[in-house]
Amino acid sequence: MNGHHRLRIAVLISGGGTNLQALIDHIDAGSMPADIVGVISDRPGAYGLQRAARAGLSHHCVDYQSFGERTDFDRALADKLGGLQAELIVLAGYMRILSATTVQQYAGRMLNIHPSLLPAYPGLHTYARALAAGEQWHGSTVHFVIPELDAGPAVIRYRVRIRPGETEPELQQRVQQGEHIIYPRAIGWYAADRLCCKQGQVWLDGRQLREPETVDEVMGINQ
Ligand code: GRF
Repeated sequence: MNGHHRLRIAVLISGGGTNLQALIDHIDAGSMPADIVGVISDRPGAYGLQRAARAGLSHHCVDYQSFGERTDFDRALADKLGGLQAELIVLAGYMRILSATTVQQYAGRMLNIHPSLLPAYPGLHTYARALAAGEQWHGSTVHFVIPELDAGPAVIRYRVRIRPGETEPELQQRVQQGEHIIYPRAIGWYAADRLCCKQGQVWLDGRQLREPETVDEVMGINQ
């Protein structure tokens, strides 16, 4: 990529789209050489679609419910993504498991954010599970996507220390504030050609990451 290239990003959502919003805000602030070329939801009612509309972004629904066969849905989504000619796919609260074919097609070019300190707590209900287990720390992790769920190589994570008596919504709110820091940061690195994934290894600024970069919430002030 040359210095003038702007990365073409497609964002996949299912819900509220606060991570989408954080990315829109960073791009609008001029802090990364990237454009969102399309937002795709699998649910027509996803509030993130309204955020996309408000930002003047091309937005689409590939409605999972309207397909009888899973393979038809997968094909429709792949066609939509292909039409966008996206260079990076950003999963931002996308709650559907992508087909292995689609994941492999975008190997090294697809990022996800998962609300746990991976490899702990892949899957759903991570906040409740971490609280029930009496964990001291929780957080969120940005990782490259591989066919295995929530298992791809990690890039950056945000950690918070769980407070005594903390409820699930309280913990979730603190972690999500951090997501809005680390996800645009990772996407910005990728757009600036600083981040890549080769043979399952993550490289940042020419250095192989042995473990993800870490941002800790410190006394409510984010580094
Ligand atoms: C995020 O917290 C992310 O960790 C998870 O889904 C949530 C989506 O939130 N994958 P939003 O739609 O970006 O607000």
